Formats: sequence, C-alpha cells, structure tokens
Amino acid sequence: MTGLPTDRDSFGSKFGVIAATAGSAVGLGNIWRFPLVTTQNGGGAFLLLYIGFVLIIGIPVMLSEFSIGRRAQQNAFGSFKKLAPKTPWFMVGFLGILTAFAILAFYSTVAGWTFEYLFQSISGKLLTVDNMEENFSDFSTGTVRPLFWQLLVMLITGVVVYAGIKKGIEKFTKILMPVLVLLILFVAVRSVTLEGAMEGVRYLFLPDWSVVNFKTVLMALGQAAFSLSIGMGTLITYGSYIQKDNHLLSTSTQVALTDTFVAILSSLMVIPAIFAFSDVVVSDLSPGPGLVFEVLPNVFNAMPGGVIFSAIFFGLLSLAALTSTISVLEVVVAWLKEELRLTRKAATIIASISITLLGILATLSFGELREFTIFGKTIFGLLDYASANIMLTFGALLIVIFVGWKMGESDFLEEISNRGTIQSVFFKIIFYIIRYIAPVAIGIITIANFFISGIV
Ligand code: TRP
Repeated sequence: MTGLPTDRDSFGSKFGVIAATAGSAVGLGNIWRFPLVTTQNGGGAFLLLYIGFVLIIGIPVMLSEFSIGRRAQQNAFGSFKKLAPKTPWFMVGFLGILTAFAILAFYSTVAGWTFEYLFQSISGKLLTVDNMEENFSDFSTGTVRPLFWQLLVMLITGVVVYAGIKKGIEKFTKILMPVLVLLILFVAVRSVTLEGAMEGVRYLFLPDWSVVNFKTVLMALGQAAFSLSIGMGTLITYGSYIQKDNHLLSTSTQVALTDTFVAILSSLMVIPAIFAFSDVVVSDLSPGPGLVFEVLPNVFNAMPGGVIFSAIFFGLLSLAALTSTISVLEVVVAWLKEELRLTRKAATIIASISITLLGILATLSFGELREFTIFGKTIFGLLDYASANIMLTFGALLIVIFVGWKMGESDFLEEISNRGTIQSVFFKIIFYIIRYIAPVAIGIITIANFFISGIV
C-alpha cells in the first residue's frame, strides 16, 4: 500500500514546513552562487532585478507548486498524472526528476568541497597555506579526497531522507535552520564592521546599470529559481506533505523572504570582507568557485580570529548544503517510492547510488575529466548551467502554464484558500500573474536564452 493519501508521511507542524522549505531554499545557491553571480553581473543592479523576480515570479511559482502537490498528494511526477490524467503533462514531472539528478550531481561536488574546507579550517591546515589558489586546485583536481567528501555528503543526505519526512527531513531542518540563520548574521556583522568594508557594501548596493544586458536578466531569473528551489518539483513534493490547513501564501512568502534575506546576508558576509582585506578587485574575479574557496580563505587568514570565522563559515555552508540536498533527493525518492511502489529504503538506496554515479563525473571534471567538454563546458559546468538556466526556468514555465491554463482558477483558488476558509485580495492577483505575466516573462527569457547559449 503505497501512494495512498492515508498512509503518506507528512510534516508535523507549521514551523516544520517553513524549516524544511527554507532549508531547501537556503543553500549553496545563497552562499556560494549568489555573491558570485552578483559580483559578476553588476552588483546592486543585479540585486534589484533579483528581488523583482523573487516577488513577481518566485512567490507565484512557489504557490503553484505547493498547490499542485497538496492537491494531488503525490510525488512530482504522480501529481501531474493525477491532476491531468491521460495527458502529456506528466512529462513536466519527468523533467523535474531529470533536473534533480543534474542538480544533485554537481551540487554534491561543491558540498563536498565545503566539507573539505571545514576540515581544513578545524585542523588548522588552512591557516598555514600561503597560496590559496594552489591549495584549492591541488585539492579539487585530485580524485580520492573530493570523491570521499562527495560520498559522505550523499551518505548523510541518504540517511536523513531514509528516516522520512517527520522524523528525518523535518527534525533535521527544524534544528539546523535557526542555527544557520544566527551564524550567518554573526559572520555578516563581523564582515561589515571590518575597516574598509564599506567600499564593499557600497559596491553591493549601488546599482551599475551599464553592465546589465539580457544575459544579466536571465542570470537573475535563473538564480532566483535555483535559490527558491522552484521549477523542478521540490516544492510539489514538499507541498504534498503539507497539512490542509496551512496558509500556503503565507508559507511561500515567509520562505521567499528568508531566502532572499539570507542571500543578501551572505553577500554581506563575503564581499565587504574581501574589500577590507584583499587587494583583489571584485569585479575582475574570474568566474568559478574562486571567490569562496580561494579569496575568502585569504581574507580569513588576514582577519583577527580568522580560524573561528572560517570554521563557522564553512560549517554553515556544509549545513546549508545538506538541508538542500535532502530536498532534491526526496524528489527522486518520492517518485521511485510511489510510482515503482518501492519501500522508502529501497528507493533511497537506488536514488542515492545512481545520482552519486553522475556526481562522480561532475567531481572528476575538475581533475581527470578536465579536458572532456560538451558545448564547450565541462560536465560540472554543463550540469550547473543547464540545470539553473535552462531546465529550471523551463520547468517553472511549464508549471505556471499548468496551473494557469490546465488546473485553472477555481481549483487553484480552492487549494490556496483552504476551500474558502481563508480570504486574501492577493489570491486572484496571484492567479492572474500565474496565468498571464509569469508565462510571458519566463517564456521570453527562456527563448532568448537558447539563442544566447548558442544552442539555437
Ligand atoms: N535552493 C537550493 C540552493 O539555493 C538548491 C536547491 C534545492 C534547488 N532544491 C532545489 C534548486 C530544487 C532548484 C530546485 O542552494
């Protein structure tokens, strides 16, 4: 008996829902990716675009996903099958499963690196390094060490997911999320109060519109989708575990605001400290992982009490990564469990192992497989770019079209109003955004993106 609403696991409390969903949203996307893409795309101007996308696209898509999952009480794939039987809409769910593979494969590589750096911070090794670029490239181009950490990440992720929704995911995130937010606040306050940090704060918030072009807009949308965990069914899956009396709009808004707040705090942790302590010109940084794994460790070494800050920083990156990896794995596990009628245990083992195999290729694309490129990108680069900028935006597009045009106004309103028991003037407005504005905006950006990336 699997897949029936009555025997499904669920979240136990409202705070649990927020913790798990915010746990999914807040991750490497906020702390590793956001400061990086912000610095490369015009600082404050990018930030404004980003916030705009979170509000007009992010929250409506989150709500669309929640409403699909909670209505169907199924995994991302099964939800489309149930709400639109005998139509090809299940393909959207399938795209989501594929995206989960792509994301988790490269994400677990970076999560592994954060574990290594946590280890290097605690063991004191990081303090003795004088060439950080060399330190990072020696490590990341290796084989055994990066793979060891990646396997550990997948193992911990698998154990939490195996424990289930209430006893695994909810329990884990309820403890970790508050700790995480406090630690980020702590490091951000330290960073902005350093001498010379104000330059960095100014850089972050003063918009420079001269560098904004279509690609910037696309990157902002892709980043918003990635950071909010939308576009691939994570929130459909989590939505299917949310109680019927949960106020979905309020939950989505709280999660989106928390996620954006943490992204901004992360930039405040990273960028001002770099301005204060190093002679690197932030806008000249080459794209890639260097910011967090090369520049920042130098900053920590130059900072009084830097060991502590570096241990806290990499510790919180590791934890933030884990609360996200579990949400991606759960998409695949829920699908295997309900569609193939496997036990949670078997589904978790199969999903973890197959994703790890792809993940190994991503990790090795910095070392052994460095020369192997597709569309001019390494396997890692391709998985990163394709998942965030193509698959997620395309997924988000199909999801809003589904809710706006297939599920329709009355079903959507019934779901988000908890069968009419709560009212809000925003409900109708949001539906119109989902039906008209979001598809046009995401559609234009998605199509343009095919041209930019040279695929068409
Ligand atoms: N949002 C997470 C981050 O910012 C990553 C993530 C988790 C994700 N689940 C997702 C991204 C689903 C896209 C879709 O790090």
